[in-house]
Amino acid sequence: RLRSAVSLLRGQGGHVALVPTMGALHAGHMQLVKEAKQRADHVVVSIFVNPRQFGPNEDLDAYPRTMLEDSEKLTLARCDLIFLPDVAEMYPEGYSANISMQGAAVGLESVARPHFFDGVATVVAKLFNQVRPDMAFFGEKDYQQLLVIKQMVRDLDFPIDILGGETLREKDGLAMSSRNVYLSADDRVRAARLNVILKEFAAALNAGMPADQAQKAAMASAAAAFDAVDYVEARCAATLEELPSGPIDRDARVLAAVRLGSTRLIDNMAAKRPS
Ligand code: PAF
Repeated sequence: RLRSAVSLLRGQGGHVALVPTMGALHAGHMQLVKEAKQRADHVVVSIFVNPRQFGPNEDLDAYPRTMLEDSEKLTLARCDLIFLPDVAEMYPEGYSANISMQGAAVGLESVARPHFFDGVATVVAKLFNQVRPDMAFFGEKDYQQLLVIKQMVRDLDFPIDILGGETLREKDGLAMSSRNVYLSADDRVRAARLNVILKEFAAALNAGMPADQAQKAAMASAAAAFDAVDYVEARCAATLEELPSGPIDRDARVLAAVRLGSTRLIDNMAAKRPS
């Protein structure tokens, strides 16, 4: 059914864009849809809460599901097709394939979520084969995920352009995320510190402070602000490889994951090599 709907769109000529999502759509997702509309002639949005990218103690069951609101937003945004596969359709009995990623998938998110990137790569590869888009959009909020998908597309020769969309933020700087609804009122206020800490970290690197020193300072600020810190690191922006300890000699990305109660927040931003 999806194939014939996409063929119908293709029959009208032009390029097809895919925006893969897990639903609970917020302004950040809608920005990706808008960018997709600007670049492509037809936009397909998939909504699928992918069990394979959740660990056994993660929030698969609690993950917000807001189908009605999502489809209203997508209709208003003039999305051409909403693809809503169910679990049995994506992973029928006997399903056994898995895409295993190294490279950009090593470290950072993988430490706390060892199955995450294989689960993401596998479902995204399936969505790519099902929809066969010319291009696909992913938010920079999940920067490591964006690089992992770019690498998968390169490594497995998918003829698809991968485009990143800038992170949208609330007024106090908190990166928009479907998981922000989990935050209590108090934690919601505290959550805004993450953006400030990353901004200071990036500014220190931009000003030529040695990476190890800047990282130590950012780590200390994060440890004071949050219940736990999974990581606060500066990495090479292109590959996510670790950086030498001195002033950065290439474009970098500062990335962090912290915990407020049982909610895990992630965010990242660019740091430029001082010229
Ligand atoms: O970023 C997400 O929402 C998900 O990881 C994705 C890319 C839709 C795959 O399930």
